[in-house]
Amino acid sequence: MSGPELVVLAGLQGSGKSTWTARTLAGTHTVVSKDHWPNARRREARQLRVVADLLAEGRDVVVDNTNPSPDERAPLIALARKAGVPVRAVWIDTPLEVCLTRNAAREGRAKVPLAGLLGTRARFVPPSTAEGFDRVDVVRGSS
Ligand SMILES: Nc1ncnc2c1ncn2[C@@H]1O[C@H](COP(=O)(O)OP(=O)(O)O)[C@@H](O)[C@H]1O
Ligand SMILES: [Mg+2]
Repeated sequence: MSGPELVVLAGLQGSGKSTWTARTLAGTHTVVSKDHWPNARRREARQLRVVADLLAEGRDVVVDNTNPSPDERAPLIALARKAGVPVRAVWIDTPLEVCLTRNAAREGRAKVPLAGLLGTRARFVPPSTAEGFDRVDVVRGSS
């Protein structure tokens, strides 16, 4: 596409967001994720600042977080609007059981507590154009 875009991923922990991003967008888009600053305070504000700066520089940006609810996605949509950049959601729709299995196989920080994954699942609302996305793509994950 011509001109920069903001891509907002949505998907459970272990759904395959980072893998899909690396395969699909890493050559063109700057990847921003709160996971890059595991120990920073105010990671949310920091992430929004980084995204705003990159969009202002004319870069394509992808935000690789779970982003499960409209409330959590709204500030990103607002940033794109303010920058005059189209904003697209990519929903990595992988069955919960697959995410649970992948999560259980992970090591260290990458493995989240079961309650964290189930909490994300409970908050999860599929992204839609009704909340302001110009487009929503769905990627069906599998085992
Ligand atoms: N399409 C896929 N098929 C099989 N395994 C996958 C696929 N996508 C990701 N995985 C594996 O699942 C685990 C979680 O993937 P990751 O991309 O890190 O998920 P997320 O970023 O959503 O937490 C990793 O071990 C990864 O290798
Ligand atoms: Mg990831």
